[in-house]
Order: sequence, then structure tokens, then C-alpha cells
Amino acid sequence: MGRCVLLLLAALFTVVSTQFVPPYTEDCRADMYPPKGPTFKKGVNWYTVDLDLPPSKRWTTLISDKKAELGKMIQAIKDLANALMPSGKLILLVDTLLPLMVDTLPHPFNEEIKGIARDADVPLGEVALFNIFYEVFTVCTSIVAEDNKGNLIHARNLDFGLFLGWDTKNKSWIISEMLKPLVVNLDFKRNNQTVFKSTNFAGYVGMLTGMKPHVFTLTMNERFSLDGGYVGIMEWIFGKRDGMWMSFLTRSVLENATSYTEAKTRLAQTKMLAPAYFILGGNQTGQGCIITRSREFSVDVLEIDLKLGRWYVLETNYDHWEEPLFLDDRRTPAMKCMNQTTQEKISVKTIYNVLSTKPVLNKLTTYTTLMQVSEGSLESYVRDCPNPCMPW
Ligand SMILES: *[C@@H]1O[C@H](CO)[C@@H](O)[C@H](O)[C@H]1NC(C)=O
Ligand SMILES: *[C@@H]1O[C@H](CO)[C@@H](O)[C@H](O)[C@H]1NC(C)=O
Ligand SMILES: *[C@@H]1O[C@H](CO)[C@@H](O)[C@H](O)[C@H]1NC(C)=O
Ligand SMILES: *[C@@H]1O[C@H](CO)[C@@H](O)[C@H](O)[C@H]1NC(C)=O
Ligand SMILES: *[C@@H]1O[C@H](CO)[C@@H](O)[C@H](O)[C@H]1NC(C)=O
Repeated sequence: MGRCVLLLLAALFTVVSTQFVPPYTEDCRADMYPPKGPTFKKGVNWYTVDLDLPPSKRWTTLISDKKAELGKMIQAIKDLANALMPSGKLILLVDTLLPLMVDTLPHPFNEEIKGIARDADVPLGEVALFNIFYEVFTVCTSIVAEDNKGNLIHARNLDFGLFLGWDTKNKSWIISEMLKPLVVNLDFKRNNQTVFKSTNFAGYVGMLTGMKPHVFTLTMNERFSLDGGYVGIMEWIFGKRDGMWMSFLTRSVLENATSYTEAKTRLAQTKMLAPAYFILGGNQTGQGCIITRSREFSVDVLEIDLKLGRWYVLETNYDHWEEPLFLDDRRTPAMKCMNQTTQEKISVKTIYNVLSTKPVLNKLTTYTTLMQVSEGSLESYVRDCPNPCMPW
């Protein structure tokens, strides 16, 4: 419901303020991998996050590299907020209220966010806002597929910035564009050994995409609902704090769960601030699932089932047993391309083709990540959707 309203508003906004953009779909792409062009050549840069450092020092190297980009991003959020409420009162509220909230966040997230604000020279409340944002505005596509040798491939597009300022000149979403320079790959280490890897936005301490090499892979997609993120965040601010922030849960699972089964149990059973979809892949045949979550419990778990011919599971932002909203059907084109690819031919290369087909690729898409658990490999690419391209 929440998403429908947002999308209708976004559609109206796009039609009125720019020009009508018809739903844009295309034939399944081929030969998109490896990505071409200067920005794609190297893929996304890697940084190490040392979990043996105190939380407030873990992000210093990354933030000193990305300080300018993070500053620009936060300024853009402030400009949007000021456009919404020209008196500047909204930002005043952020600068006074949110710093108090940071202290209520669980360890190590509270300390990490404070360290980032210090290193980036940005008011604490604004870094907190940046971290809350993702609990509210993310739309995505995630796939776990098993090839016919039993290898699991987990891939995702991270789409972010819906309704956050459409730039009529560039035909792009302002926030989505600003996020692209913040995309990084992270190698979280303890005792100088990799604990997990992730694709993330600099300045953000939760996880949306990650892998424990040789053990499991995990992505999170937003699930829209009236009883959604806003309600849970409000409850948190006003003192009801028995739920967990979604992206803190994924970070905690990546950091501390030691098997697919343990990850699955924690993701299914931990009480949360907002509903979500968790897409989880394991390291053995048949280990791939979509966990559909309400705030309280797991509503449904859909698993790979080779006997039923289900060699992949695919999630966008709708319950798999329901039709997607007609204005936002990325599931049908993605499944069509998966089916056309076949289990025999599925690989990192061909799954990248699927995620490069419009409208699975759209103006909100900031990055694509490809993970292969048995190799322990994670690679990601910042995306651009050439015109004509759907705004979402
Ligand atoms: C829009 O495009 C122009 C020219 O390509 C670029 O200089 C500018 O930074 C872009 N603006 C945004 C918000 O991406
Ligand atoms: C950490 O590991 C890297 C490579 O695995 C090695 O070059 C480096 O010396 C190690 N550092 C410490 C402090 O053990
Ligand atoms: C993981 O477990 C360790 C040890 O119990 C704990 O200190 C750390 O905060 C946990 N990490 C997260 C992100 O919850
Ligand atoms: C799969 O993960 C389990 C830990 O949950 C580990 O014991 C096992 O060795 C892993 N298998 C492979 C093939 O890596
Ligand atoms: C893809 O294949 C699955 C399994 O055969 C089928 O249920 C689904 O309807 C197909 N989807 C599309 C869009 O072709």
C-alpha cells in the first residue's frame, strides 16, 4: 500500500513536471558482461574495515577518502528537506532530535555513526538521517540461482532514491546520482582474516548486500506496508525499542552467524522495526530462499526446489504470491530473462545480463553486485541506465 501511494505520487510528479515516460521494457540483454566503459573497467573500489578497532575508528580510512562525496550527498538531502519546509525547521529538528536518538541505537552502531560524523565533519544528526533513510526508500531486485553443478549465484540491483527529487535536465533522480560515488566494496576483518564482504554506501553502517565467503550470501529488499518503516522508527524515537533495525540485523547476521541455517533462523525470528524481504543463499544445493517478513515474524519462506523445477528464487518488492503493481513490474521481465537463460547457462555473466535489462535496470539503480559463495567472490558495478529508461 505504502509503495502504491508513493509510486502514484512519483508517477504524477514525473508526468506533471517533466514529460510522460511510457513503461519501457526491452528484450533480454546479452553480452553485457564484463561491463564496458571507463567507469566500469575497475569495478568498485575495495576498503578494509577492521573489526578489531574500536567502533568509532573503523570507518576513518574510508570516510577520509569519501568525505567530499558524503558532504555533497548530505547537502542534497538538506536541500530537499528545505524545499519541503523552507523555514529550515526540518533540518533544525534533524540536528537537535536525531543526535539524541543515536545514543539509543545498539552498540556498535551508535559508536560507529559518531565516528563517521567526526571523520566527515558533518553534524551527527545528519549522518544519523543518512543511516535511517535506507530503512525507508529502497527498491531492488535480488536473485539466488543454482546452476546445474550445484553452485549458488546470488546477484542484486540496488535501486534507491524513489521520489527524492527528479532532475528534469539530466532525467535522473538527484539522490540516486549522488549515491553512485559513495558505492564501495568492504572487506570486514577480524584477526586480519575476512569475516564478511559487502557492497555498501560510504557513511552507512548497516548492510543491504553481503557475503560470508564459503558460507552464505544475503541481500535485503524493502517490503512496503502501511505498518511500515515510519511507524517502527517513530516508535523507536518515542521509546518503544523492542524491535531491531533491519539493516543492523543483516549486519549482525553477516558478522556473527556461522551457517546458512543460523542466518535463516535469525532473519526469520528477530523482531524488527519494519517489514522486509531477506534473500539468503547458502553453500549447498537447495540452499536459497526468500524470507518474507512482517515486523513480528516470518510470513512465508520460498525455497529453491529443484524437484519442482524451481532452480532460482527472485524478489523485487512484492509478495511472491501476489501480482506486482502494474506500474512497477520488474519481476515478470526478470523472470522472463531467467527462464530464457536456463539453468544450464546461468552464471555470473548471464545473471548480469538479466540485471541489465530494462526495467530491471532503471533510473534508480545505483549498483549491481554479483556473488559466488563457493569462490568467495563478490564484485560490483555502479550502474547507469541510458535513455530512454524508466524512472523506476
Ligand atoms: C547533470 O548533468 C550535468 C552534465 O552532464 C552534470 O554536470 C551535473 O552534475 C548533473 N547533475 C546531477 C545532479 O547529476
Ligand atoms: C595481514 O594479512 C596480510 C595478507 O593476508 C599480510 O600481508 C599482513 O602482513 C597481515 N598483517 C598482520 C598484522 O598480520
Ligand atoms: C558480533 O558479536 C560480537 C561478540 O559477541 C559483538 O561484540 C558484536 O557487537 C557483534 N556484532 C554485531 C554487528 O552485532
Ligand atoms: C558450508 O558451511 C558450513 C558452515 O555452516 C561449513 O561447515 C561447510 O564446510 C561449508 N561447505 C563448503 C562446501 O564450503
Ligand atoms: C518462468 O518459469 C517459471 C517456472 O517454470 C514459471 O512459473 C514462470 O511463470 C515463468 N515466468 C515467466 C515470466 O516466464
